Amino acid sequence: MSLVVKNEIINQVTPNNMRSKIVAGNWKMNKKFDEADELLYQITDELNNNPIDNVQLVICPPSLYLELATDFADASEIKIGVQNVSEHKSGAYTGEISVEMLSSVDVEFCIIGHSERRKYFAETSEQLANKVNNLLEFGIEPIFCIGEQLEEREADKHFEIVKKQISEGLFHLSPSEFSNIVVAYEPVWAIGTGVTASPEQAQEMHAFIRGVISEKYGTELAEETSILYGGSCNAKNAKELFSNTDVDGGLIGGASLVAKDFIAIANSF
Ligand code: PGA
Repeated sequence: MSLVVKNEIINQVTPNNMRSKIVAGNWKMNKKFDEADELLYQITDELNNNPIDNVQLVICPPSLYLELATDFADASEIKIGVQNVSEHKSGAYTGEISVEMLSSVDVEFCIIGHSERRKYFAETSEQLANKVNNLLEFGIEPIFCIGEQLEEREADKHFEIVKKQISEGLFHLSPSEFSNIVVAYEPVWAIGTGVTASPEQAQEMHAFIRGVISEKYGTELAEETSILYGGSCNAKNAKELFSNTDVDGGLIGGASLVAKDFIAIANSF
């Protein structure tokens, strides 16, 4: 995509503060039961000492610990999400968890299209679109992940790739369905690597994504969409990343496993 086209898309949107700020922790495949329990208690302690203001906290533990997490969430302002859902509604799909099951235990968010699922489980855009449809039917908000690989950025294809991912996964939705989507921009080269996108790179891409949403659904809806940054976001760099107009929070992996860091990130706006 030429720079002119890219800038035209970015300039269509005037930023403001209508949208929710969200910090979501993606625990991935970490923590044994006792450790998960302990981490939830530590998060409560941290929250008591450093209350957060105007930020929605979401925790996405392994699904095995959902009961533990939802009990804990009942006593706090935290909402619970999961890291994946089956694309099938019910039936003979050994090992899978359906959206109906998640909804029956008060799950409110679900990460969809994380680059690890796209890479290791070969999830396609079509499957992701099905999962999004199922989640919306049951009132669970998808946190839809998009982001380019390092080679794609080096080949200057990052805008094109991100636009393709969002269009294929989400642009079949009606405007009212889309209003329930949270987008997470996670450059793959920044996930778990300790290399974070610079605040300028993050702002540039977030503004671009908002522009792409605006082209499809109009400025108002684009302005209301929360776009999170993910990829080696930590207690040290969160403030600089979140100070950008189009960065509405973070999807946090490694740093969400340390209560002090996770709450410090949520206090970084
Ligand atoms: P990270 O992971 O913060 O450990 O880089 C982020 C993610 O994968 O969502």
